[in-house]
Amino acid sequence: MMSGVAPKRFIKAPQTAGLLGLVAAGLCLFALFASRAVETAEDASLPGTYRNLSFNVDGAGGAQRTMAPLVLLPTHKYTWGREQGQWSLHDKKLRLDQRPAWGDATINADRQLRFEFTKDGKRFTVTMYRAGDAPGAGTPAGTKADATAGQTTSPNAASSRYEFREQHDPDGIGKFYMGREIAHVISVQGADWLERPEREHEENPTLLMEALKLKPGDAVADIGAGTGYLSRRLAQQVSPTGVVYANDVQQAMLNLLEKKLAEEKIANVKPVLGTTTDAKLLAGAIDLAIMVDVYHEFSEPHEMLQSVCRALKPGGRLVFVEYRAEDPAVPIKRVHKMSEAQVRKEAEVHPLEWVETIKVLPRQHIIVFKRTPEK
Ligand SMILES: C[S@@+](CC[C@H](N)C(=O)[O-])C[C@H]1O[C@@H](n2cnc3c(N)ncnc32)[C@H](O)[C@@H]1O
Repeated sequence: MMSGVAPKRFIKAPQTAGLLGLVAAGLCLFALFASRAVETAEDASLPGTYRNLSFNVDGAGGAQRTMAPLVLLPTHKYTWGREQGQWSLHDKKLRLDQRPAWGDATINADRQLRFEFTKDGKRFTVTMYRAGDAPGAGTPAGTKADATAGQTTSPNAASSRYEFREQHDPDGIGKFYMGREIAHVISVQGADWLERPEREHEENPTLLMEALKLKPGDAVADIGAGTGYLSRRLAQQVSPTGVVYANDVQQAMLNLLEKKLAEEKIANVKPVLGTTTDAKLLAGAIDLAIMVDVYHEFSEPHEMLQSVCRALKPGGRLVFVEYRAEDPAVPIKRVHKMSEAQVRKEAEVHPLEWVETIKVLPRQHIIVFKRTPEK
C-alpha cells in the first residue's frame, strides 16, 4: 500500500515544483522587465543641457565658478567642455564614467543635479540646473534656454514659478522667486555662529519672545530651527503643556539641537526632519509657526509655505523674522535680508492675511500673518 502512495506523492511533487518554478521564472522576468521599463523612462527624461547653479567648498556657500555646460545625450554619451564619456543611472542617481571622484549625482524634482564629494580633505557640493534639451532629445537643438545662456532660463514647465540666472549674487544660488534671489543654506559648519553669545544683544531674542505673546499649551513649529537657539526659548514660553516642533532639513543640525536639549534638560521640543518642500508636520496642528533667518534660504519657498499653511490651525499665526533689507545699517549680506514688501508679496499668494509688522528688534522685523480659509 505504501509503495502505491509514495510514488503518487513523488510524481505530484515534481509537477508542483515545475509549475512553481515556471511561475517564479515568469515573475522574475516580469520584475526585470518592469524595472527596466522604469529605468528606461527615467533615462529618457534625463538628456539635456545642464548649467552650473552653485559650487560650494566646505559648505561655505557663495563660491561661484562658471563651468562649461554638461550635455547628456539620449545615446548615453555626454560632453562636458572637452570631456567626453558615458552617463548611466544607478539607483536614480546619475553617474558620469569619466568623473568617478565626483560620485553619483542626486536628481531632484526640478531636475537639478547635485554632486557631493570630498577632495583634498574638503567637501564640495556642485549643483546644476536643467537649461535645455539635448540635441536629439525630441526638441530641436538650440532651444530658447540655450539661446539665452547667461540670461533668465526656466528648467521645465513644472518649476516655471522659479527662474535661474547665471549672473547672480555669489551669496545666492542663482534661483529667483518673485524677483528675489534665494540664498545659500547655512551648513552645519556655521552652527557656532547661530549660538554666538553676542547674538543676545545683536538680535535680542528675549524681546522677540515677548512680542510673540505665546501661551502655555500652545503648539509651535520652529521651521528651520538649526541648533535650536530659538526652539529652546520657545519651549519655555509654552511650558509646561505646550510643545515645540523643531523642524530642519539638515539632520546634522538636529543632532546638535538634540544635544543641547539633553544638556538643558528640555523635554517639550520635538525634532522633525523635513524636506525642502515639506515641513513634515501634522495638518491643522500648529498655533504658531515661526521662521527666524530662514525663509530667504528655502530653495522651494512656494512649496514650503504651502506645507506650513497646511500645518497651521485655522487662525493660526505664521511669523517671519528676517533681517531688514530696507536698512543698509544692518550688517548682513544682501540675499540674507528681506524687505517687508517682498515677504508680504510672497506670503499673500497663500491663504495668509498680514496682521502686523513688529519693529522692536535691533536688526530684524517680525512680520505676522494669520491663516485664513483657502483662497
Ligand atoms: C540661518 S539658519 C537659522 C536657524 C535658526 N532659525 C536660528 O535662528 O538660529 C537657517 C536654517 O534653516 C534650515 N533650512 C533651510 N532650508 C530649509 C527648509 N526648506 N526647511 C527647513 N529648514 C530649512 C537650514 O538647514 C538652517 O538650519
